[in-house]
Amino acid sequence: MTHLKVLPPVTSETPPVDSEAFRASMRQLAVGVSVITAGQGTDRTGMTVTSLSSFSIAPPSLIVSINRAASIRPLLDRYRTFGASILGTGHNAVADRFAGVGGLKGNGRFIGEKWITLETGAPLLAGALAVFDCEIEEIIERHTHSIVIGLVKAARATEGSPLVHWQGQCRAFAG
Ligand SMILES: Cc1cc2nc3c(=O)[nH]c(=O)nc-3n(C[C@H](O)[C@H](O)[C@H](O)COP(=O)(O)O)c2cc1C
Repeated sequence: MTHLKVLPPVTSETPPVDSEAFRASMRQLAVGVSVITAGQGTDRTGMTVTSLSSFSIAPPSLIVSINRAASIRPLLDRYRTFGASILGTGHNAVADRFAGVGGLKGNGRFIGEKWITLETGAPLLAGALAVFDCEIEEIIERHTHSIVIGLVKAARATEGSPLVHWQGQCRAFAG
């Protein structure tokens, strides 16, 4: 006896999933908050993401999905490297600034925090819970987003408590 549920084939008549239902359902997913950064020197920018995820252990790689309209997108092509910094409980203001709250752009978003570089020269947040210095292996364009696969060239972790995004808000981890 099979327990597989057989779904009807997708056709143009298949009703689209209601986007409100999709959003409401995704709000229940609790995820860590990170900042993705790209560029060198003052030619740099970054953005807040919740789409960062581990991809493979061998080779060490991660994946992040980035809206094609985001200001970081051309820098990913130009430098072919990026940094990923996992935010801690005290980084609410950083999450806001790199999400565009306050209107700062590019290098202006980096002011007020200490940044380091490791292998590739991509900026990494000195006080992050963990940082990953990545070389871009591939960028896959799909729908509204670019799926970016990064080969991890260096990684560092410290102790601390994460910033978690749940129900539309960045919150201190209550574990
Ligand atoms: C908690 C949080 C998570 C986000 N996650 C993503 C993400 O995974 N991918 C993405 O493209 N934008 C994400 N965004 C939106 C970008 O941070 C925002 O659009 C940012 O300002 C980039 O656009 P800009 O550099 O063009 O201003 C997120 C925003 C917030 C507040």
